[in-house]
Amino acid sequence: MLAVLALSTLIIASSNEDKPNIKNKEEYRVYDETTPQHVKDFYRVNHINQTVEFVLRKEKEYLPLRHRKMGIWEAFRIFDTLVDESDPDLDLPQRYHLFQTAEALRRDGHPRWLILTGFIHDLGKLLTAFGEPQWAVVGDTFPVGCAYSDKIVFPEYFASNPDQEISLYQTTYGIYSKRCGLDNVHMSWGHDEYLYQVVKNYLPPEACYIIRYHSFYAAHLHGAYKHLMSAHDERMLPWLELFRNYDLYSKTEEKLDLTALMPYYEDLISEFFPSEIDW
Ligand SMILES: [Fe+2]
Ligand SMILES: [Fe+2]
Repeated sequence: MLAVLALSTLIIASSNEDKPNIKNKEEYRVYDETTPQHVKDFYRVNHINQTVEFVLRKEKEYLPLRHRKMGIWEAFRIFDTLVDESDPDLDLPQRYHLFQTAEALRRDGHPRWLILTGFIHDLGKLLTAFGEPQWAVVGDTFPVGCAYSDKIVFPEYFASNPDQEISLYQTTYGIYSKRCGLDNVHMSWGHDEYLYQVVKNYLPPEACYIIRYHSFYAAHLHGAYKHLMSAHDERMLPWLELFRNYDLYSKTEEKLDLTALMPYYEDLISEFFPSEIDW
C-alpha cells in the first residue's frame, strides 16, 4: 500500500512533463548512421560482452529468484526511477511507457491478461537497480552460442565478441539442434528472461511468451532464427508481432491521467498476483 501511495505522489508531482511528439511508424527503431551516439555505444558494449559464459553466469545468479521478495507495485516504483539508454524513442519517465502500452491494448479491447502483460512487460529492467549495467538489462536480445544473424541491430559490433574465437558458436546451430525450441536457447541476458522467470507461475502461457521474447526483434520483426524454433514457437510468434505494435508505437508523449487510471491497474495486478512474489 505504501508503495502504491508513493507512486501516486510521484505521478501527481510529474504529471505536467509531457510535450507533444508525434512520430510516423518508420521513425521508430532507426538504427543507422543517424542513430544517437549513446545508442550506438550501448549496442557496441552489449554485443561485445554478451557471451555464452556471461549469460550462463547471470542465469545462475538470478534465476533462482533469491534477490528479494516484493509486490508488483514496489517493483513498479523502482522501475520508474530507471533510464533505458538503448531506447531512441522514449524521453518520458519509464512509468509512462507501461501505462501507454497497457492503455493502447485496453483501448483496442484486448483481454485483461494482455493489458496486464503490457503493464508489466518491462519491469525486469529493475535489474539495473540490482547493480547490473545497462548492456546486461535493456536493448534487443539474440541467441548466444550460435551464429549471429545479420538481422540483429548493428551486427558489426559482434566482431569484438570473444565468442567469435569459438568456432562451434559461429555455426548455424551452434550448441543447439535444429528446431530445438527457443525455450532451449540461451538468449543474451536482459530484462525479458528475468521477468519471465519471476512471473511465469502467475500468467497464461501467451503472456509469459510475450514477456520472455518481446526484445527478440531479429525474430519477430525480421523473421530470423526460424531454424531454432519449434512448432510451439511458430504458434506463439504472432503474439510477439501483435504485442510489438503496442510496445513500440504507443511510445508517444500523449498525456495520460495516471492518477485516474490507478484503480483499474490496482485491480488488475491483484487479480493475477499475490501481494509479494520472488525476484
Ligand atoms: Fe522491454
Ligand atoms: Fe517496452
